Amino acid sequence: MELKVVCLLTLLGVLFVEPGFGQRGDIEMIEWLKDKVEFIKTLEEKLKEVEGRQNGFDALETKLNATVDEVTRQKAEMDKLKKENEGLRTRLNATEEEVDKLKQNSAKGGPQIAFSASLANFGEIYKGPCTDKALIFKRVFSNTGNGYDPNTGIFTAPVNGLYFLSFSTYGYNTHVMGAILMKNGVSQISTYDDPSTDGSDSSSNAVVLQLDGGDKVYMELWDDGRVFDNMNGHTTFSGFLVFPV
Ligand SMILES: *[C@@H]1O[C@H](CO)[C@@H](O)[C@H](O)[C@H]1NC(C)=O
Ligand SMILES: *[C@@H]1O[C@H](CO)[C@@H](O)[C@H](O)[C@H]1NC(C)=O
Repeated sequence: MELKVVCLLTLLGVLFVEPGFGQRGDIEMIEWLKDKVEFIKTLEEKLKEVEGRQNGFDALETKLNATVDEVTRQKAEMDKLKKENEGLRTRLNATEEEVDKLKQNSAKGGPQIAFSASLANFGEIYKGPCTDKALIFKRVFSNTGNGYDPNTGIFTAPVNGLYFLSFSTYGYNTHVMGAILMKNGVSQISTYDDPSTDGSDSSSNAVVLQLDGGDKVYMELWDDGRVFDNMNGHTTFSGFLVFPV
């Protein structure tokens, strides 16, 4: 609208500075006025045209603003997707690591634990009767996983699991022949043979025990017990992990 006002003021200016104003005849005057009316019409048309253009610009700006809004929205969306993608990659990495670990474990078939030993690693051993009743099996055949300690005779379970444990005892008829399988100080299974008139005795036993990692199993003599071993390996202690639990 400001433009209209400016135009009218301009027109008035034109009217008043027109040379010969008021000094002409009526006909001239009418012609002159017609001219001016035409002129005003032209101005009005121009004005409409300008207004039309202005509307066009406004529409364009609205469209442009809408486009800017859309681009902003899409950028926010993309940022969100990027973040989500990063999160997924982190989780994928963790999953891949887990799968690798599982692969390694299954390639090896789980933890490998097995041991086997006999009492004498040279000469002849008569063990018992004595107060320190622990049997220490010195001749180690195998000790995968290092659960068995040949210095103490104790097998310490490396992992939670079911373990197959077996032993055999051999001795002569002068004493109780046999031994007890202990778990953390508590007897589990045993072999036993009273002193008798036959020359020698041999017996064995086995069990599947559920052990927690750190549980200790070992062999002990009976109170008046005695066992014998030499390089023939009569008195033995063995075990292995059946499966972890
Ligand atoms: C376009 O956006 C600008 C800046 O945000 C604003 O000043 C202007 O009024 C908007 N124009 C229209 C037509 O919405
Ligand atoms: C995923 O692992 C690859 C290669 O191991 C590493 O380059 C990348 O930075 C890791 N990405 C994340 C998000 O941890």
